[in-house]
Amino acid sequence: MNIKFLDTPLASIDADITVIFLTESLLKDSTHHELLNKAGFKATQDQIVLLHEKGLLYCGIEKLNRDAIRSAATQAVRCLKASNYTSAKVAQYFAKNTPALVDGLVLGFYSFDTYKSKKEPSAFQHCYLSHENFDGTLLESAPLQEEIEQRSIVCHGVNYVRNLVNTIPNDITPPALADISQKLAQEHGLNCHVLDEQALNAEGMHAMLAVGRASVHKPRLIHVSYTPENPQRVISLVGKGLTYDSGGLSLKSPTSMVSMKMDKAGACAVLGILKAVSELRLPIEVHGFIGAAENMLNGDAYKPDDVLQTKNGTTVEVRNTDAEGRLVLADTLAYAQQEVTADYLFDYATLTGACMVALGPYTVGMMGHSNTLKHQFAKIAAPSGELLASLPFNAHLKKLLKSDIADISNVGSKPYGGAITAGMFLDNFIDKGMKQKWMHFDIAGPAYSETPWDCHPYGATGSGVRFTIEWMLALLSQADEV
Ligand code: BES
Ligand code: ZN
Ligand code: ZN
Repeated sequence: MNIKFLDTPLASIDADITVIFLTESLLKDSTHHELLNKAGFKATQDQIVLLHEKGLLYCGIEKLNRDAIRSAATQAVRCLKASNYTSAKVAQYFAKNTPALVDGLVLGFYSFDTYKSKKEPSAFQHCYLSHENFDGTLLESAPLQEEIEQRSIVCHGVNYVRNLVNTIPNDITPPALADISQKLAQEHGLNCHVLDEQALNAEGMHAMLAVGRASVHKPRLIHVSYTPENPQRVISLVGKGLTYDSGGLSLKSPTSMVSMKMDKAGACAVLGILKAVSELRLPIEVHGFIGAAENMLNGDAYKPDDVLQTKNGTTVEVRNTDAEGRLVLADTLAYAQQEVTADYLFDYATLTGACMVALGPYTVGMMGHSNTLKHQFAKIAAPSGELLASLPFNAHLKKLLKSDIADISNVGSKPYGGAITAGMFLDNFIDKGMKQKWMHFDIAGPAYSETPWDCHPYGATGSGVRFTIEWMLALLSQADEV
């Protein structure tokens, strides 16, 4: 399905169906008030009614705001996807809600059928967006068009991430993720450099090597970069790329293991961000560093009681092999800082179940030392369509990482505050000069869900792409003002 902006009023667009969003109060003034009443339409959030004879699809919204539009547009597009209509048209619902409208249409339309033997192709192909506002006024076309085009690129980046994360661990192993990154790089004019086992060894990345040792699919460190001319900033993004997390010898229970193909969601988000940034041609140099490994078991598996030597020299006592993401990230973060002097360093990881306990399954946990960055991300969260909340470090939790035999332990000695202790573990691998430039995003909750929510169907959501691009755009518009 493609989205097209048309610089014309709604009435002059030719389409099978017109999609109309209504609040309860707009419903009262609607031309089809009586007909809708007969159909039992009350304009409650996400309620939809299709008046086939009139060519109208009515969608209820609780309030005229971003979240309501995104969710209702998702319901509308799912209904159209299941129909035999080929096209639809939509007005604007104030320019500030346009990105949410595009989110609902493009992200709501997504489904993953790679492993279905019978695909169900949809007749629905085109969605036209007019510059006419729902109240009949006409909005300025140029900024609207730019906004729609930008947002579609971002949403396609999100869908790219969803496809990767949904792909099964048999098809995406660490070497396969390296191939996928090479392909993305080729298609988008990016650079890609892959470190194999030998190179990882030469770099002293023994924590990452230990995590991947029991798998037949050996670890890879993938460096993908987008280097425009005269960049205004340099940003390094680090992603946890566990193509499967069985827990290792500290084996997960059967039920917790299901869905652990999503443990590569941080890495996939980094690839999706690079895809979007390069398509948007943002004047920012972006480096993606992916630590790809598979956490498995065999006779040579790394063990609780082992002590690992990480790239930056810190020794780590392993007390739980299921806390493997932080070990991979430790080496990947150290490598990223060695290779690139960046203005910002962000990492993305499905790191802890504890983050879900703390914030619920829909919210990204952000951690770091910079209050400025935390405020910036909190501010762009709502327009981005993602939920973010800050989890604060503190000196008491830090003590829980003490080890009697090595420099630090890979898990906290007490069961509470697990998302924060994981973040504070990573802090050991951030160079002094980078502390204020670093943010850690724990996406364990929002990256994947077996229950559809918002504009997300079953499975991967593509968490990380929208809020990061939103932040980058805000950064660039600030730079313009100076
Ligand atoms: N990949 C998991 C975290 C996770 C759990 C992501 C559930 C998404 C859903 C991570 O490697 C892990 O197993 N973490 C442990 C840490 C513990 C051993 C300290 C956890 O959260 O239980
Ligand atoms: Zn784990
Ligand atoms: Zn993991």
